[in-house]
Parts: sequence; structure tokens; C-alpha cells
Amino acid sequence: MKKYAIILAAGKGTRMKSDLPKVLHKVTGKTMLDHVRVAVSALSPDKEVIVVGHRADDVLASLADGPEFVKQEEQLGTGHAVQIVAPLLDKDEGTTLVIAGDTPLISGDTLEKLFAYHESEGATATILTAIAPDPTGYGRIIREGGQVTKIVEQKDANEEEKAVPEINTGTYVFDNKALFDALTKINNNNNQGEYYLTDVIEIFKNAGQKVCAYSLDDFEESLGVNDRVALSQAEKSMRARINHNHMVNGVTLIDPETTYIDADVEIAPDALIEGNVVIKGKTTIKSGVVITNGSRIVDSVLHSNVEVRNSTVESSIMETGSNIGPYGHLRPQTILHENVHVGNFVEIKGSTLGANTKAGHLTYIGNATVGEDVNFGAGTITVNYDGQNKFHTEIEDHAFVGSNSTLIAPLHIGKNALTAAGSTITSDVPDDTVAIGRARQTDKIGRAKKLPHYKKLDD
Ligand code: UD1
Ligand code: CA
Repeated sequence: MKKYAIILAAGKGTRMKSDLPKVLHKVTGKTMLDHVRVAVSALSPDKEVIVVGHRADDVLASLADGPEFVKQEEQLGTGHAVQIVAPLLDKDEGTTLVIAGDTPLISGDTLEKLFAYHESEGATATILTAIAPDPTGYGRIIREGGQVTKIVEQKDANEEEKAVPEINTGTYVFDNKALFDALTKINNNNNQGEYYLTDVIEIFKNAGQKVCAYSLDDFEESLGVNDRVALSQAEKSMRARINHNHMVNGVTLIDPETTYIDADVEIAPDALIEGNVVIKGKTTIKSGVVITNGSRIVDSVLHSNVEVRNSTVESSIMETGSNIGPYGHLRPQTILHENVHVGNFVEIKGSTLGANTKAGHLTYIGNATVGEDVNFGAGTITVNYDGQNKFHTEIEDHAFVGSNSTLIAPLHIGKNALTAAGSTITSDVPDDTVAIGRARQTDKIGRAKKLPHYKKLDD
């Protein structure tokens, strides 16, 4: 039997009060639509169609793989949204999943079980339902003698129906041809003036076709995100799921409640992550890495045994055994090779530091290529920017940059060279050379006695 999937993503999401289309709001760093698509991919459908509408171009631009889509010019309701997919699908035999783009927590595992249940029951339609602690806002599952007879929307429900705790998650599996046939019979005579997909259930029932419900054990999974309150709930649930998976896979999280790891982050077993850590985007963390509280890692690779202490690492690579912090900052395109040490209040941008190089304190390194085993004294600054252009600094292996050196780029410092503390270095330093670029000290003997500070001491 062929499998099809239709994802509804045309709505504006009025209740989000946002410029951004609802399905592009992110949960743990990934759009809700991407979460839904990951779940759908567990079914390996023969065809996947996304219904776009409100700001369709933005929604499509967010989908790197260029999937098949249909544009719903006017959002006339979920039933209308599926109806317009008819030209692509209505002639085909098969089973069709319909899922809303605003239910990011529904898992691939659940979709597989839903499909299997639908097929084993030989149903025309199977609704994924859940028991909600507070069902307000959801469509209610109305049963007679245990059998589902229809779905009633919140806005159309009477008091008795509103009291029903079983809700429609907005996910269904249908016999494909029966679905498109029933959709020709729906109307918009309801309190929202919309064509409801949910109306097909009653149509099936009246035609004597089998309708089933597959109930989720866990209501949380069915959360539909209609406003920012629900968005934060989705974030919290997804975070708990992500953190749970990492712990099961062997990662130590000291305080998972306050550990914020995006959906696509990869972490190897035996990494240790303290509380109040944020790990975002496409980050990879290898075994033995330690990340202490207050750190923020974005789109970076931390190789084995790296230590990040209370620091920020953005779009950078830290090779095995390198470390940073406390209070260090790696800005984009920085590479620290093996065992590099970056200490407190050090900022590095667009630079590569060779193995065993050290920048222990209060230093800025920008647009630099640094060799192995180089030592940066406290307060070193690469002067890489004249207000218009960025200039490059090159420092060869085993160079020793004295404290408070000002390295004015473009500049080349040779192998084993040394810059004296407090130097302003404006021209290239050859290998094995000591460069001193500072004014000589002169001593005025006894002069201090004539200065104001001295008098004060006398009083
Ligand atoms: C829908 C269901 C409700 C269910 C709830 C679960 C209907 C009529 N109601 O209500 O029973 O409990 O989901 O979360 O289906 N969309 C379109 N085109 C449209 C309208 C909506 O593509 O014309 C898309 C939206 O972008 C959204 C999804 O369909 O992703 C659901 O629409 P929404 O307006 O959020 O429906 P609910 O009111 O939540
Ligand atoms: Ca919704």
C-alpha cells in the first residue's frame, strides 16, 4: 500500500501575534515545520505534499530540500487546505497521513504506530487523539456507544461537548480516495465560516465507513502551538525529550532542567555538561568534553577532552585537549588546534592557533594565523582594523609575544622571535629576533618630592 503525507502549513497563526508565519517559529532551534517533517520521514512516504499559503515564499525558503507543495491562496480552513491537494493525489490508491505543521512534538514513532493501527483495523479514517487535562481550544472527539461519530470544534461545541476531555490532535490517517471524495461534500456552515477537515469524520460515519481513534498515552506529544504560551510549553517538552535522550546515550547532564540543547546538536557519550549551559545550532561535541555553567556554544565542533569554562564559542572548532575560560570568547571562524589554552577575558576572531599555543589573559586576537607553541602575554592586542579594512597577522612557531604588545597588522612575526613587553610592533620581526618597540625609561632622581602626591604623603 502506498503512503502519502500532507502537511498543513498555510495558516498565518494570528494568535502568535507575529510577522513570522507560525510554522517557522522555532522549538529547540528548529522550525515547527521541520520537526513535523522529521516525524513524517519515519514513514518514508511515497509522496509528501506541503500546503503553504501565508508568506509561502518564506516557508518554502526554509525548506532546503525543495519538497512538493501546493499554494493555498486564501486560508479557508483545514478542509479546504487538503482539498486543494486533490490534483496531485486524488486518483491514487493508498493511505494518507494529514498532519498540522503546528504540532512539533508528535514523534515518528507515534506516526508509525498510528499507521499500523489504521491498517490493522481496516479503517477508512483513524484519528490520533489524546486526553487533555484542559481541552480548551481543541476539537473534541464525540463518541456514541464508544464509537467515534464526529469531531466538534471548540467554537461550535455545546456545553456537554466542551466537557469532553478527548481531543483531536490534528493528525489523521485516511484511505486516500475516500478522503478526497468526502472533501467534496464539506461546507463552511459553522461558527468560523471555515471548511473544516474534521467534518469528513461525520461524513464517513453517515456513509457507514469505519472510523477509528488511536489514543496517545501522553497528551504532551499532541500539543498544538497556537500562541507563545504553547510555544514555550513545546520548547520545554522538547528540551526534556532531547536531554533525556542524551543522558540515555551516556552524556552527563548535571542539571537537565537548566540545560538548553538544540534538536540537531550531537553529543558523544562521556561528555559532561553543567547547568545553565546553552548549546545551539549544528554543534558536535565529542567524548570527554567538559562544559561548565554559563557557557554558550553555537554551531561549533568540540573535539575530545575539550574544556569550555564559562565561555562563549561561536562557529569555531576546538581540537582535542584545547580549553577556554573562564570568560573567554571564540568568535566565528576560529580554530584552536590540539591543547591550545585560552584563558580569562580573551577574545579570538577569525584566527587559527597552532597546537600548544597559549593566550592566558586579557588578549584580543583577530584575523591571525598563529603557529605552534606560541605564548601570548597578558594584554596582547592584534590591531587588525583601520576602520575600513581588516589586516592579517602571522605569527610563526615558538614566538613569544610579550605582555601588552600591540601588534599592528599587516604583520609577520618570525619563528622563535620575541616582542618585548609593552611594545608597539609596526614592522615584521625576523626569525630569532627580539623586537623592542617602546620608549626608553628616564629616571628624574628626587623629582617626586616636588609633585602634589608627595606633599599629601607629608601632611
Ligand atoms: C485544528 C483542528 C482541531 C484540532 C487542532 C489540533 C480543524 C478544523 N480543527 O484546530 O480539531 O484539535 O487543530 O491542534 O482542523 N491551515 C492551513 N490552511 C487553512 C487553515 C489552517 O494550512 O486554511 C493549517 C495551519 O497552518 C496549521 C494547521 O492547518 O498548521 C491547523 O490550523 P489551526 O488554525 O491551527 O487549527 P486549530 O484551530 O488549532
Ligand atoms: Ca493549531
